[in-house]
Amino acid sequence: MSPDATLGDERALKDGRGREPPGTVGERDQHRLAGLARLAEPGVIADPYPLLARLREATPFAGLDGALIVFGRYQDCSRILRDPRASSARDSSLLAPATRPPRDRAKSFLSLDPPDHTRLRGLVAKAFTPKVVATLAPRIRQVTEELLAQARQRGQIELVSELAYPLPVRIISELLGVPPPDHARFARWSARLAQSVQPNFVAADSAEIVAQAERARAEFAEYFAELIEARRSSPADDLLTKLIKAEDAGERLTQDELIATCVLLLVAGHETTVGLISNAMLALLRHPGQLAALAAAPDLAAAAVEETLRYDPPVQLTARVARRGITLEGIDVPDGAVLLLLLAATGRDPAVFARPDAFDIARDAREHLAFAAGPHFCLGAPLARLEATIALRAIASQVVAPRLDEATLAYKPNVNLRGPERMVVRFTEVREPRR
Ligand code: HEM
Repeated sequence: MSPDATLGDERALKDGRGREPPGTVGERDQHRLAGLARLAEPGVIADPYPLLARLREATPFAGLDGALIVFGRYQDCSRILRDPRASSARDSSLLAPATRPPRDRAKSFLSLDPPDHTRLRGLVAKAFTPKVVATLAPRIRQVTEELLAQARQRGQIELVSELAYPLPVRIISELLGVPPPDHARFARWSARLAQSVQPNFVAADSAEIVAQAERARAEFAEYFAELIEARRSSPADDLLTKLIKAEDAGERLTQDELIATCVLLLVAGHETTVGLISNAMLALLRHPGQLAALAAAPDLAAAAVEETLRYDPPVQLTARVARRGITLEGIDVPDGAVLLLLLAATGRDPAVFARPDAFDIARDAREHLAFAAGPHFCLGAPLARLEATIALRAIASQVVAPRLDEATLAYKPNVNLRGPERMVVRFTEVREPRR
């Protein structure tokens, strides 16, 4: 078989040292799938890395009669993310829950393949280039300062709800053009949608969670339909108005596609960067030497962000669907099989990163796959990087003697959009920013 016709190699179903674990193939698959399911256990959510290391070493492995194939090695995941035969149409997989209501409305481009993916992504891509995003820096700094100032008198900050969450939410809402009084409603809808994107082979789909997510999606759609009408009659200088103009200009974007795009941007802006800022602060507070290095040289903030994306990424896993005769050596791949990619395991792959379990902001971690790779590479990466860099820089240079109250640390129950729900940081002082 030619190398480009395959995704895997001879390691299939062997452990890291190339040995078959004891038991029959069926027993081994069961064992490995049970390991995968443990990613949803509260104790594991707090630190999944020992388990992810074991899973990575065992990958690639198949389960559920070949309908699921799991990857955790950097090279495998990187290759699949770039392979056009690995589809993003997740609801067409062999494992798509039959219980979900049929989706007759438009899907967001996260779940589309070319040419629809290319067309829709192209319409918003211009708003998210590093150059355009850089113009948001003064506003991001201003909001960061406001949030830190609110904590100044209290001597402590609950980092998630008082900084890591409101910062990206305010910025994406302003960018899109959704009025501030409506932000609280989004927070609820967005959290419900995020909870519902648990892979159903890791956490059993609760009918209640699915129903709540469907309601949230409908409420979002209704909200945006009204806002779109309002912007049509009185256009503003925001992304929503630009997208409406693109729609009006020539059927490149239907009303349903427009709504799906707005919901995608808003949910992505709500549920991911919060994890990046929280995970970065958690790692820094647990590695005081690294925090001191950052405080002494705040220009290291961008590198600290990249190292966090490698070491403890906010998106733990993603999936593709095998299409058009994709083959893997040693594994039978049926059309429609789910290719589960353990992104969080790739950042600790010793084949790519030396001392993978060490958090070291001086290393060059930019090769990580935290934003995926290939055609679906995170569109919001420049924005997420800028927001997190500004936040880390401000905290490291202005917050004096920060220390984590470990007893307050709690995680969200989510498996794939993983991150702290609450963490209190105490300090002696918040200095004024240097002008
Ligand atoms: C640290 C923060 C973030 C992380 C770790 C992250 C991660 C990811 C990942 C892994 C994907 C690929 C999913 C897949 O195809 O399987 C993705 C796609 C995407 N992200 Fe992000 N994201 C972050 C922040 C953002 C922000 C702030 C926005 C926008 C406001 C955003 C918008 C998007 C969009 C629109 C896509 C779909 C791209 C496509 O399908 O072509 N992301 N992100």
